[in-house]
Formats: sequence, C-alpha cells, structure tokens
Amino acid sequence: MEVKIKAPRGTQDVLPAESYQWQEIERIVMEEASRSGFAEIRFPTFEDTALFQRSVGDTTDVVQKEMYTFEDKGNRSVTLRPEGTAGTIRAVLENGLLGSALPLRVCYLTSCFRYEKPQAGRLREFHQFGAEMLGSASPVADAEVIAMVQRILTRFGLAGAVRLEINSIGCPKCRADYHAALRSYFAQRRDELCATCQTRLDKNPMRILDCKSPVCSEIAAGAPVGLDYLCDECAAHFDQLQRHLKAFGIGYTVNPRIVRGLDYYTKTVFEFITDTIGAQGTVCGGGRYDGLVQELGGAPTPALGFAMGLERLLLVLRASGYEFQPREVCALYLASMGDQAHLAAAGLADALRRAGVRAECDVMGRSLKAQMKYADKIGARYTVVIGDSELAAGKAAVKEMCSGETADCTLSAEALAAFLNQ
Ligand code: HAM
Repeated sequence: MEVKIKAPRGTQDVLPAESYQWQEIERIVMEEASRSGFAEIRFPTFEDTALFQRSVGDTTDVVQKEMYTFEDKGNRSVTLRPEGTAGTIRAVLENGLLGSALPLRVCYLTSCFRYEKPQAGRLREFHQFGAEMLGSASPVADAEVIAMVQRILTRFGLAGAVRLEINSIGCPKCRADYHAALRSYFAQRRDELCATCQTRLDKNPMRILDCKSPVCSEIAAGAPVGLDYLCDECAAHFDQLQRHLKAFGIGYTVNPRIVRGLDYYTKTVFEFITDTIGAQGTVCGGGRYDGLVQELGGAPTPALGFAMGLERLLLVLRASGYEFQPREVCALYLASMGDQAHLAAAGLADALRRAGVRAECDVMGRSLKAQMKYADKIGARYTVVIGDSELAAGKAAVKEMCSGETADCTLSAEALAAFLNQ
C-alpha cells in the first residue's frame, strides 16, 4: 500500500474553520502597527546563511542547532529565516532605506523556521508579527515600542493574562566586565557544563545563561547578573525606560535573568509572558540592538524591535475565551431546477458577487433537495429557489434560513442585493 504523505513534524495546517481567526489577528496587529507609523516590509523566506551567522550569532542555539540550512543547486549555502530581524535589516540596508526620514519604522508578518523539539506553542514552522524601529537611541523609543505591544494585547483583552518583564544586558563596553565575571563563575564548574557550553565559555559566556540543558540552567541560576555590571550610560538608559513605562501606566517587573536567545541585543531586552498556555509562555520578545546595523555593513545606527509568536498569541486568545468576529458565511444560495434556471442562477451569482454579495449556486449538478441540504450545511443566511415559473414571473421567494420567513423579490442582482442589505 502506498504510504500517505503527512505534513512535516512541527508544522501546522491552518484550515478554513480557523483561518478567519488568523485573519483577524493579522488585521488587528497591522492596524495597530500602522497607527504607530510602522509600514509593512516583506523579505525573502531564505537568505545567505552568513546573514544569520553574523546577526543572530554563531554561538546561539538558533544558529548552532536549529537552522534549516542547505546548499542550493548553485552551491550557495542558504538558510530558511529563523527570525525576521536579520532579513529586515539586510533589506533596509540593501535598499538604502536609512537615507530618508528617521526613525524608520517597519513591520512584518512572516513564517520562521527553527529545528526545535515540537511541543504546544513550539513549532518548526511558526509565524511572527514583528516590528523594528531604526535610528533612535532614546529610551523613549524603547518605551514606545513596548507600549505598542501593550496596546495590541489590550485590544485582544489580554492585558491581564500577559505580563511584561524587562532587563538590560548592557553594551559592548560594560559587557566586557560582565563576561569576565561570568567566565570566572562558570570556569569553576566547567566540567559539568554541556559540550556546547564548554566552548561558549571562552567565546560568549552569556549564551550559557540561555542553554536549555537542565544542568547548565541549574548552574546558570546562580550566575552573576548583567544589571550589576551596567556602565553609567546603560544604567541611565534603563532608568529612563522605566520612568517612561511608568508614565505610560504600563506595569512591568525587572527580571535580571532575561538574556534572550539571539546575540544582537544591547541594553534593553523584554518579554511578554503568560502562564496560560504551558511551558512555552513567551508570547513576544524583543529589545534594542544598537550594533547590528553596523555589523551588517551599515552606518552605526541604533535600533530596536520585537516579534510576537502568532501561534502562541492564538493559544492565549483561545485560553482567555476571546470572541473572534464570526466567520463570514454565504449570504444567498441560489438553488435552481432545469437548464434555463441553472444558467440564470449562475449569472445572478456572478452579478451578485460583482456587487459585493457572497453568493453561491450549484456547481455539482445536484437535485434541488441536495442543493438545499448543501445550503443548510454551509450555513447560508438566505436561499432562493429558481425554476421555470420563477423565471417566467421574473421574481422568486427569498427565504431567511434562521426564521423560515419568505418574501418575494425581483430576480435581478440589484434587487436581490438591495433585499439582502436592507
Ligand atoms: P525570539 O524570542 O526568538 O525573538 O522570537 C520571538 C517570538 O517568536 C517568541 O517570543 C515566540 O512567541 C515566537 N517563537 C519563537 N520560536 C518559536 C517556535 N519554535 N514556535 C513557535 N513560536 C516561536 C526574535 O525572533 C527576534 N527577531 C525578535 C526581535 C525583533 N527582536 C528585535 N526585533
């Protein structure tokens, strides 16, 4: 027997019964982004592998363990994007977008790919809504971006279900001292660390703080925290951010353990976390990345942003009982009997659609009874039956399915559309 092909592990189909929920989420996040001045940017699904190695960082779990990397037929190493920031910055630089008004605010809805162990809220192909602001070094920008996430969550009624945690991981200047402190702390227990973290110890000890192995996380729990090593500038930035968050009325806690899983961050990092969807409760993560634009070949340009996992957002929405706007159903089903009537029904359905009405007619060659059964199954709001006598009279009875009430209506697209819209 032939083996049926299944969707790859860690991927999800979005079926018609739920795609309208995705559409509502996407509409709302893009609407909020637009209100805050963010315009959509689209970039390729795959990029030169070096882009992610240089931005996300080659000692991160994402680059070391999770990327979908392959050689194309031209022997180039390419990688399916594991996140959206790198592609955004690459596109911004390549297209010279930093040459016009700053700050530049761009946002995206993208699929991302990471070879992780799938579980609830963790997929190998997942979707992000992300936003990036380039050009501002001010903590006001940090607060503004965080406030946008907060507004989105509030619009979904999730302000109480998701909490904000913030931290500062400093700049390259203060990070040198912090790295030294981490190295001497972890060196005492070097032999207990996993093989990957042993190599990270020399290259990038902060990454050990983010390791998912139980032993490394247990050791990391006692490690020095970055907040104790901030230089004056970074400390002042963090302080100002908190003043602004308070001014915006946004509640938060400082969690000195947040380091994020990507290498490009500097100063502010933040996460929006929920306890309502299990272990993968980080709905949104972001922060400042003041060195990335330069790292990718641009002029030194401070920047920051965030990305929200849409699958996780959907899980929180469902857990909170959020009511999506009902799925649009067929407004009018045109049932027909006989050749002339079939032709008339098809023509009317087409004309109604041109007039903006969701109309359907039979395309299966079904009996009238079977047509009505179908209309019922798809939840059509109204039905009309067209036969020879209706054609001759130029009018037919339109039936409201929920009440069973009928009313005569002229058999023209204009009259039917007007009837449905009254
Ligand atoms: P990230 O924390 O790696 O950050 O991912 C952002 C969000 O994507 C997470 O908080 C989570 O909701 C979702 N996510 C990540 N991995 C998965 C997965 N395997 N399955 C389902 N959802 C997942 C970034 O990607 C940064 N680019 C965010 C950013 C933008 N920072 C600055 N600008």
